[in-house]
Amino acid sequence: MRASRFDLSGRYALVTGGAVGLGRAMAEALAELGSAIAVMDLDGAAAEQAAEDISARLDVRAIGLRGDVTRPEDAEAVVRQVLDWSGGQAGLPDQQRGHRQACACGGHVVRGLVRRHER
Ligand SMILES: NC(=O)c1ccc[n+]([C@@H]2O[C@H](COP(=O)([O-])OP(=O)(O)OC[C@H]3O[C@@H](n4cnc5c(N)ncnc54)[C@H](O)[C@@H]3O)[C@@H](O)[C@H]2O)c1
Repeated sequence: MRASRFDLSGRYALVTGGAVGLGRAMAEALAELGSAIAVMDLDGAAAEQAAEDISARLDVRAIGLRGDVTRPEDAEAVVRQVLDWSGGQAGLPDQQRGHRQACACGGHVVRGLVRRHER
């Protein structure tokens, strides 16, 4: 059973470098708490496979996307795809507007991009 304090149902997480290793472990941990998962990785096939595995094992929505987080155009394209995929539900925490949040591993670049797409 999920502890309510850590229940991420209805949330979206974008995990960069999420196909294997530490990123994959983070993606799985977030999925175990109920979050939908977008896996971004340099290796698009591995990202898709990771998303498929996570979705099948943990019964959450998941999508795998190819992208190089160091390339602004890739990061921007992936953020746009995640926002589309979430049907506009993904976004950063904003208590005033009260919408649901995305956890954006990858730091300020991705956060800035999400904010730009929210305007
Ligand atoms: N594994 C450890 O114990 C450990 C300890 C300390 C620090 N780190 C650091 O943490 C990071 C992740 O470690 P890991 O062991 O999971 O690495 P890993 O090499 O096993 O996995 C990295 C994943 O990130 C992807 N990736 C690499 N560059 C990318 C980019 N520019 N854009 C998108 N995806 C990219 C790779 O394709 C791969 O799937 C590394 O920077 C590593 O140096 C790891």
